[in-house]
Amino acid sequence: MAADPAAATTAPLRRDVQLAAYRRAIAVMPGGADSNFRAWGEDTIYIDRGRGSHIWDLDGNEYIDLRMGYGPVILGHADPRVDEHVHARMRQGVSFSLTSEDEIRAVELIRELTGWVEMARLTVSGTEATMHAMRTARAYTGRTKIVKFEGQYHGVHDYALISVVPNDISLLGDRDNPVRLAWGRGIPPAVADTVIPISYNDTAMLRRVFEAEGEDIAGVIIEPVLGNAQGIMPREGFHQEVRALTREYGALLIFDEVKTGFRFAPGGAAEYFGIEPDLASYAKAMGNGYPAAAFGGKAEIMAVMPRHMSHGGTYAGNRVAAAAAVATLEALKDGTVLAGIAETGRRIQAGLADVAARRGLPISFMGHPTMFGMVFAEDAPADYRGWAATDHDLYDAVAVGMHRRGAMPEPDSREPWFLSAAHDDADVARIVEIFADSLDAALEARAAAR
Ligand SMILES: Cc1ncc(COP(=O)(O)O)c(C=O)c1O
Repeated sequence: MAADPAAATTAPLRRDVQLAAYRRAIAVMPGGADSNFRAWGEDTIYIDRGRGSHIWDLDGNEYIDLRMGYGPVILGHADPRVDEHVHARMRQGVSFSLTSEDEIRAVELIRELTGWVEMARLTVSGTEATMHAMRTARAYTGRTKIVKFEGQYHGVHDYALISVVPNDISLLGDRDNPVRLAWGRGIPPAVADTVIPISYNDTAMLRRVFEAEGEDIAGVIIEPVLGNAQGIMPREGFHQEVRALTREYGALLIFDEVKTGFRFAPGGAAEYFGIEPDLASYAKAMGNGYPAAAFGGKAEIMAVMPRHMSHGGTYAGNRVAAAAAVATLEALKDGTVLAGIAETGRRIQAGLADVAARRGLPISFMGHPTMFGMVFAEDAPADYRGWAATDHDLYDAVAVGMHRRGAMPEPDSREPWFLSAAHDDADVARIVEIFADSLDAALEARAAAR
């Protein structure tokens, strides 16, 4: 959808209605929001609506959306192909805790698009999908421990919240002997003890861990790109080496495709990198914003259910999510839509690179053109510790400045920009312009502070 030039100004954002909403919310919700990630103090956004690539907050401020709900909205907000199918199903009743035809079709489509997932179960969130994928690995192998990579985010269950975020890298301990750092209070040390964090892109370290504890390791869970650190990419051969090591030590390889699935390619990052994992978790792009998620993998492994492993949930495979998954996956399956989004991303990157070059600033992009981050540096980092050592302040100032000018990337520099099929030529041009203005303002502020 074309940007309304009048909406994209440097005038201060209108905030009156949202400040009133914030005051109400803060009295009844910790931080004034339903997620720590959305609690931005007095700058918390209270949303009214979205259409295509644009969103409007409660004060009527309009933005080109570069968050797309943290990634799910792959076709654009309020896409009629998805909404009409969902609404038709909703009119027939929404909650039965009985299996609908859409659930079967959704899993058939996951199988068709990935080409390697033979069986899957639907869940409601990515968190449930990774939690059950980890449990499946444990149930199948009879082992307890899971290897994960520092800086990777796999949702909010206890086993996922180990060594995810600190900016202060010393909290992660020695690089070669990292601490199992729980994110916040409330996670029992016994849980943290079952998770082994290691550095991304370091298979020598993975081998050492397997040599020391291989008999206890049920699986390795990996975000195919480090999506919680702007999309740090695997080095050449990394995934192939991880695949070979997991096979050598009899551990399962779990691709956490919550961000990459049905986005990098119809078959997700597994297709993009040419890897066949044992298990995978999906969410986000599979439902265009409706709460659809899944975990799945090889039939022999998934066969631990129903007899030997618990999986359930009143809303698992719920009508709304299953209908959304069917309509979204049908729209994505031939790859044309995804190729178009990737092209949009490449054009935005070219524009941003040109802006940075004109100002003599280095810039490196990470991730995939449909979902990319950037650092103002000659080289992209290879792991979370490397990322944490980059200068985020300039990026953060640019991102926040973009909000005032009518485009909304996530203000936290960890999150990549997410694009959708609804971002059009006018959006591309406007995003580049807004980035340039915001970068100039941030550079000026930085110079003035010196
Ligand atoms: C890679 C990855 N895994 C899991 C999750 C958790 O998904 P959800 O927020 O749907 O619980 C996320 C969420 O951002 C994610 O990026």
